[in-house]
Amino acid sequence: MIGSLMMCVSVVILLAGMLAGIVMGAQQNFVLAPAHAHLNLVGGVLLFLFGLYYRVIPAAGRMTLARIQGWLHIVGAVLFPAGIALVLLNGPAYTAAPIVGSLIVIAAMALFVIVVFRTRAA
Ligand code: HEM
Repeated sequence: MIGSLMMCVSVVILLAGMLAGIVMGAQQNFVLAPAHAHLNLVGGVLLFLFGLYYRVIPAAGRMTLARIQGWLHIVGAVLFPAGIALVLLNGPAYTAAPIVGSLIVIAAMALFVIVVFRTRAA
């Protein structure tokens, strides 16, 4: 089920994001703080909440739209922070990566809006 997969990916991302936070603190180098924040919030918190919705409302989790939304969000939630990190480390030549990542995330968000409205009575 897509909800369980999303929650499993989310907790792994959160563990990695928190470890990255510890490394940032230990090195006193906060250049990657925005990438850390987006990884934890978009890839960790949001992904977990979406997955939880699909688990709590199985009718939503069974929708094809939910599977598309889940996979889109997983891809975007990794590409977006990775893109932010690329730009922060290497400069604006890599701007396409966070732009594509953010567009994928917002497309997934739009699908989630449809899923929630369609299952509001479930
Ligand atoms: C072991 C856990 C964590 C550690 C050690 C950690 C560490 C850090 C550090 C060192 C910074 C940079 C602070 C600075 O710029 O002065 C930071 C920023 C931030 N962290 Fe974490 N963090 C952790 C978990 C999380 C989690 C779970 C979230 C969100 C769900 C989060 C969200 C943020 C945000 C929003 C910022 C601000 C980013 C910015 O200013 O651009 N962090 N964190």
